[in-house]
Amino acid sequence: MKLLDLFCCAGGAGEGYQRAGFDITGIDINPQPHNPHKFIQADAFEYLEAHGHEFDAIHASPPCQIHSVMTKGRWKDRLEKHKNLIPPIRELLIALGKPYVIENVEGSKKHLINPTMLCGTMFGLETKFGSQLRRHRLFETSFFVGLTPSCNHKKGSVIGVYGGGQHPGRRYHKSKSGELKTKHGVAGFGVQDRRDAMGIDWMTGKELSQAIPPAYTEFIGKRMMEVCFK
Ligand SMILES: C[S@@+](CC[C@H](N)C(=O)[O-])C[C@H]1O[C@@H](n2cnc3c(N)ncnc32)[C@H](O)[C@@H]1O
Repeated sequence: MKLLDLFCCAGGAGEGYQRAGFDITGIDINPQPHNPHKFIQADAFEYLEAHGHEFDAIHASPPCQIHSVMTKGRWKDRLEKHKNLIPPIRELLIALGKPYVIENVEGSKKHLINPTMLCGTMFGLETKFGSQLRRHRLFETSFFVGLTPSCNHKKGSVIGVYGGGQHPGRRYHKSKSGELKTKHGVAGFGVQDRRDAMGIDWMTGKELSQAIPPAYTEFIGKRMMEVCFK
């Protein structure tokens, strides 16, 4: 089964679908030298219109800046420059008539139709020191996903995979176990910690901050295989 991974960046989503058994082609407007799948540099809308019929299923992760809670807080005035890409990509996907998935951040909930929420804690994603990945992402699907594992937020340390890994105003040292900590015991995270928590070993820090953990799309991809192709 051939899956088109639109807005693919360095291929976090694509990797999960590959694990679910799909053959992946990624499309991004920017070069993606670290993307491990077949890759074509192109505009997602143009490529989908011209080549969508060559694929069995489509995934789209349109840029989420306009919906990102972080962006809203920090750079409110920049929001105006970003457009909402979800409705136009959905229109193209429905016209194509193949099984599809549109993924986005929680802030985009009102733009997505009956999305399924996935979190790193559903898949046991954490750093090697046990800091949990509480990364909520929404998936609108053209097929029935059904029950998901439950969110399992425990008391304790949490890793955020955003722009930076450590607080710029804090000083960190390596504890005996190798963990980065302030003198008050607040954990700091390097790129390797973020890779461990995301289940991704090939991305830079910047690419990780945009990615979805492959465990999420492996879950969605397996459901799609069962519901749409068996
Ligand atoms: C949030 S990232 C996708 C992350 C990816 N799903 C993953 O899991 O690694 C969005 C990507 O959309 C790309 N992009 C923005 N506008 C685009 C367009 N018109 N066509 C194709 N790609 C575009 C950006 O370059 C960026 O890499």
